[in-house]
Amino acid sequence: MRTACVTGWPVAHSRSPAIHRFWLARHGIEGDYVAYLVAPETADAFYRNFEASGFVGANVTLPHKEIAAHVAAHKTPAAERLGAANTLWLDQAQLVADNTDGIGFLASLDQRAPGWAERTECALILGAGGATRAVLDALLSRGVPRIDLLNRTEARAHELAAFFGDGRVTPGSLQGLAAALSRADLVVNATSAGLHGAPGLDLPWDTAKPDALATDLVYVPLKTPFLAGAEAAGLATVDGLGMLLHQAVPGFERWFGVRPQVDEELRRHILADLARAA
Ligand code: ATR
Repeated sequence: MRTACVTGWPVAHSRSPAIHRFWLARHGIEGDYVAYLVAPETADAFYRNFEASGFVGANVTLPHKEIAAHVAAHKTPAAERLGAANTLWLDQAQLVADNTDGIGFLASLDQRAPGWAERTECALILGAGGATRAVLDALLSRGVPRIDLLNRTEARAHELAAFFGDGRVTPGSLQGLAAALSRADLVVNATSAGLHGAPGLDLPWDTAKPDALATDLVYVPLKTPFLAGAEAAGLATVDGLGMLLHQAVPGFERWFGVRPQVDEELRRHILADLARAA
C-alpha cells in the first residue's frame, strides 16, 4: 500500500493525517497517511536514507524543515530559495524537497479573496520567523510592489529583509505599526501572538484602510484576536486554515496521482477534527 507520512518532533498535533485521509477516502485510493515521529538525533540519517523508510513521500514539520531540504538530492526552486522543505517525494529513488507553504498561502487568498493581488499595492507583514519567510517569498513572487516587514525584535526583520535582498521590502519595528497599517492593502499576521488563546497583538485598526484585507497564519483559534479586530473595523478577513489545506495539495498529487480539491466539505471535516483535539 502506498503510504505517506508527516514527519516532525512532535507530530501528534499535526492535522495532515486528517487532511490526506479525507482525500484518500474521497477518491477511493488504497493508500494511507500516518504521523511519523523523527527524533532530532536521527533526522539527518532518516531523510538521507528516506527510500529505506518505505514511505512514498512525506510532509515535514518543525524542527526538521531545514535538515530535510539540506540533505535532499534535489530541491525545487522554492525549497532552494527558502532553505526549508515541507514536502518530499522520491524521483528514481532520489529525494526531492519542495516547499509549498508559499503557494498554499497564495492559493488560500486566491480562493477566499479573489482579486486581492491586483488590489495590493502595499502589504504589511507582522513577524519575522520561519512562517514569514515563506509568506514574504510568496508575496514577492506574486509581484507585490511594496512590503513593510515589522517585528517586535527589529533586528530579525532586518535580517530577513537582507536575506531576500529585494528593495521592495522595508523592515522595521512595531513602532511603525500605525503608519504601515494606514497604507496597507493586505495585512498578514505571521507572528505566533494569539496562538492557542495567548494574548494577541494590539493593532490600531482604526488607522487601517477600510477596504484592506487581513489574514492570519494561525488557525487555532480560527478567529484569532487579530482577525476579530480586523473584522470589527469592517475589514475583509481570511483565516489561516486555508493555507494549511492548500499547502497539502501538491504532496497528495505527487504521492497518489490525483490533484485533490480544497472545498467546504474538507474545511468542515478539519474544523471538526480540530474541535475534537481541543
Ligand atoms: P515561526 O517559525 O512559526 O514564524 P518563530 O520563529 O518562533 O515562529 O517566530 C514567531 C514570531 O512571532 C516572531 O516574529 C516573534 O517576534 P520576535 O522575533 O520578536 O520574537 C513573533 N511574536 C511572538 N509573540 C509575539 C507577541 N506577543 N508580540 C509580538 N510578536 C510576537
